[in-house]
Amino acid sequence: MDDLIDAAREIQADAHVPYSEYRVGAALETEDGEVFVGCNLENANFSNSLHAEEVAIAEAVKNGHREFSRLAVSSDRRDGVTPCGMCRQTLSEFCDGDLIVLCDEGDGSVAEYTLEELLPNTISQETLE
Ligand code: THU
Ligand code: ZN
Repeated sequence: MDDLIDAAREIQADAHVPYSEYRVGAALETEDGEVFVGCNLENANFSNSLHAEEVAIAEAVKNGHREFSRLAVSSDRRDGVTPCGMCRQTLSEFCDGDLIVLCDEGDGSVAEYTLEELLPNTISQETLE
């Protein structure tokens, strides 16, 4: 099992999920090999909930990182969960289309995508120029 998937699994223990009971962990690897993790943090006002990928990228960016190579995501159901549409757009702000996205399908099986595959033709800073 990839260490990055392991990190995404481990951080699920810190998820706050009283509403969905669906734990998600994310682990984002920088170009220089550091790993930042996040888990989902739900709120009684459902729309305020933070997704695991958002928490991981916020942690990495506030620690000064802007170059990323891989992201791993995992849910406690080991169902191959992929980043939702909102998280794909959030990732695209800081990650190139060739970011590798690893999705934990359980039993050591990992689906691999690129961010470009998950979100082609993303809106970006250039779009606004
Ligand atoms: N969730 C994430 O953390 N990341 C995603 O991109 C998909 C969904 C969380 C949000 C909510 O706490 C739970 O999974 C069920 O949607
Ligand atoms: Zn999301």
